Amino acid sequence: MKIVILAGGLSPERDVSLSSGSLIANALMASGHAVVLADVYEGVKTDENNLSGLFITKEDNHLFSYQIPDTVPDLEALVAKNNGRKELIGENILSLCKMADVVFIALHGSMGENGQLQAVLDCNGISYTGTGYTGCLLAMDKDITKRLLCHAGIPTAPWIIEEAEEITPEKITDTIGFPCVIKPVGNGSSIGVSLVYDPEVLTASLNLAADKLSSFGSKRIIAEKLIKGREFSVGILEDRALPVIEIIPKEGFYDYKNKYQQGLTTESCPAALSEVLTEKVQSLALAVHKTLHLGSYSRIDFILNEENEFFCLEANTLPGMTPVSLLPQEAKAAGITYEALCEKIALLAY
Ligand code: DAL
Ligand code: MG
Repeated sequence: MKIVILAGGLSPERDVSLSSGSLIANALMASGHAVVLADVYEGVKTDENNLSGLFITKEDNHLFSYQIPDTVPDLEALVAKNNGRKELIGENILSLCKMADVVFIALHGSMGENGQLQAVLDCNGISYTGTGYTGCLLAMDKDITKRLLCHAGIPTAPWIIEEAEEITPEKITDTIGFPCVIKPVGNGSSIGVSLVYDPEVLTASLNLAADKLSSFGSKRIIAEKLIKGREFSVGILEDRALPVIEIIPKEGFYDYKNKYQQGLTTESCPAALSEVLTEKVQSLALAVHKTLHLGSYSRIDFILNEENEFFCLEANTLPGMTPVSLLPQEAKAAGITYEALCEKIALLAY
């Protein structure tokens, strides 16, 4: 097949996406597909990141990998470097996609994950991987997700949500209380997320979340009651739950650094859970996947509290595919190699 992989872009998860995209490209090339990896942020040459240019083709016969830096990319600096041009699906990217049998979406966050890109591809009759535009929209907005989960009887932590300029420490103190979690609504990889135990740092946490709001999405901030417990994640592939993974950061919570720096988090798969709890969380994950109209694959995150109740944190329509990401580890535990996983996702494209 001719496969165009879309990665990079100008989401705060740009670096994560370049890492996912480069690994996926290698895997699909190894399976014999003709692959083009495209950074949808046109004009940003990726030479400095050890990639061989904007597009890497199979003809280059060039295997590559992208190392995720410790810190979130400075998107304003990138835009400035590129004469103020912002992320877009330009004519050349669209023409490239039209030539492909399948577009493999390896973007994370912003317009790659919130349904906007999927809608453009739909309108142009282009076949793509993963979830369609409706599911992406429902899963990327944490407020809509939580409302639908409540409606379906799937436990999720109490929350309040408001526009960044309207949410105040007083409102959070009066409704959710402490400890709580502060998040920008439309971001991923825990960017801009804080766990707040001490009311004194609430204002700083709200400022951090406001600073990390996606330029292309919602300008709202969500405050959730912090559910204390063990953290688990369940991948869904072709309407079946994969083995459950437990995430145990060595320090702090599963933030950007603990997610992407090798060795800072222990991932245990299959997780040390009883059969009953394993089946419970797998069936909850499938219920979330269906409730949100997700496509051929997804990854659903949960906390298990001391009373053995699972609370859904969120659904990811474009789960990370980096060397340290969870879905590939879960697939491996089910006997599915990284190459086979990528091939399956490509074959299941809309
Ligand atoms: N948002 C990141 C890529 C994930 O969910 O894995
Ligand atoms: Mg996420």
